[in-house]
Amino acid sequence: MEILLWREILDPYYLAVDELVLKFKHIMLEYRSAGEYSPIEQVDGRVKKISSILEKAQKKGISVEEMDHKIHDIAGIRIICQFVEDIEKVVELIRKREDMKILKEKDFINNMKQSGYRSYHVIIEYTVYTSKGAKTIEAEIQIRTLAMNFWATIEHSLQYKYKGNIPQPVRQRLTKAAAATVMLDSEMSAVRDVIMDAQDSFQYKANLVADILTNMQNLYKVANKREIKKIQDEFFKIYNEGVIEGLERFNKELDILAEGYKAQSLK
Ligand code: GTP
Ligand code: MG
Repeated sequence: MEILLWREILDPYYLAVDELVLKFKHIMLEYRSAGEYSPIEQVDGRVKKISSILEKAQKKGISVEEMDHKIHDIAGIRIICQFVEDIEKVVELIRKREDMKILKEKDFINNMKQSGYRSYHVIIEYTVYTSKGAKTIEAEIQIRTLAMNFWATIEHSLQYKYKGNIPQPVRQRLTKAAAATVMLDSEMSAVRDVIMDAQDSFQYKANLVADILTNMQNLYKVANKREIKKIQDEFFKIYNEGVIEGLERFNKELDILAEGYKAQSLK
């Protein structure tokens, strides 16, 4: 058997995880900068440790040569959502993409595992380009709510602590806790619209204030200092009133003012 160059084997996986995390984070940022609710709350990724790859290969009777296509989670991405409804939206986003080809979907939400584990798994095929050329690899994307993630994280630590043999009383607690997360997710779904509205307007206000500050900063370069001071005082007054329409009106006035200065400088 050839000597295994782990670094070389794993390199495309590292690249894939970096790229995938970046792509999903950008989707999240796009929603937020448009002042919209994002179905993605958080994104993480990791390449499986060599020791875990070897352990899994041994357990499943997989030879090292077969690893690439028989271990599907060497590259792992985790997408956390606030609400169960967001999960389908994220899966839909993935389905529409041309850079990710879905090979398999596993719905452990409608089919909860015996352990109590809930999550939606998507195995994709993804191509990266390294200095050696193109390489198509598989990646596992786990999509779950904050509540599902909380449960899975705790259960995973217990699996580790008890080396896979969690004592019965602890197991029972975990089963109860799993039922509680189902309940929590469904209660949260019931107030989803209200929460989404609140988050939307929070984001909208944050974007508006950022806009105003940029406008003021630009004016600072061209307007006289007394005028800027007046504008700033006015901004604080309107901000403290806490009425969104007031901020909108103020921002429009700044726009007009900035246009005026621009016209002047072009003369
Ligand atoms: P492995 O479970 O990884 O051996 O592969 P599989 O082919 O059985 O895939 P499956 O979809 O069942 O699980 C893939 C991944 O989901 C695991 O590596 C874990 O990250 C996660 N997972 C599956 N079941 C559980 C569970 O009972 N508890 C926790 N905490 N995580 C789980
Ligand atoms: Mg499994």
